[in-house]
Amino acid sequence: MHSKKYFIANWKMNGLKGDLNQISIIDNFLKKKNKLSALNCIFCIPYTILGLALINLKLKKVKIGAQDVSNEAFDFGPSTGQISSKMLKDLNCKFTILGHSEKRFNGDTEHQISQKIGMAVKNNIKVILCVGENLKDYKKKKSFYKVKKQLQLSLKKNKKYLKNIIFAYEPIWSIGTGIIPENSYLNNFFLKIKKYLKNEFKIKATVIYGGSVSPKNINELKNIDLCDGFLIGGASLKHKNFIDIIKKYYN
Ligand code: PGA
Repeated sequence: MHSKKYFIANWKMNGLKGDLNQISIIDNFLKKKNKLSALNCIFCIPYTILGLALINLKLKKVKIGAQDVSNEAFDFGPSTGQISSKMLKDLNCKFTILGHSEKRFNGDTEHQISQKIGMAVKNNIKVILCVGENLKDYKKKKSFYKVKKQLQLSLKKNKKYLKNIIFAYEPIWSIGTGIIPENSYLNNFFLKIKKYLKNEFKIKATVIYGGSVSPKNINELKNIDLCDGFLIGGASLKHKNFIDIIKKYYN
């Protein structure tokens, strides 16, 4: 088993300031478990509580990340409602999700995602880049074709930043549905993604899985040898579920 696994939480549009104690509880849990020291745990939370978390929570193990950054080429200026990578850097924020299917659905284009990657990495922010196909493409056996296209378009202008990207394969039909792909399918898919990134971009990529990861299916998912970790939505909202996932993974 690969030792350095990622357990990344995506809180999406959830979380009030009172919920930040969930993260402190997880941090305490990880602090007590020395054998988990090789694990990377990142909580990607809404902007409204990101600053509070980074300034007030004295976290030892858990890192805090954002869920998006502005695609503007400037750090400050006329872009109402946007948050620049520079602003996140000011808070010492070191990670952000980009290209999540829910953001793509709301209008994020490949071009914008590519711009966002550049701005994030320039500001020392590591990117968790989400890719994945919808159910229609999955049924038509076009999953890899779609994912390859997404990777190609978002990476071609970011070749010098590739080491700062964690790739998250998230089949859209699996997000929030409770349905996960078969292990054999995922093993094969991870192999294809890693091979593609190695051949095309000369990198040994870190690739994680996202989509309905829960305490119920982690025993199954942990058998995917090439998977470097998980992006966890719904099950990251309650500390008990998130800790259960980690416990079962390392059991
Ligand atoms: P989910 O979300 O775990 O609730 O399916 C995952 C994600 O969208 O990143």
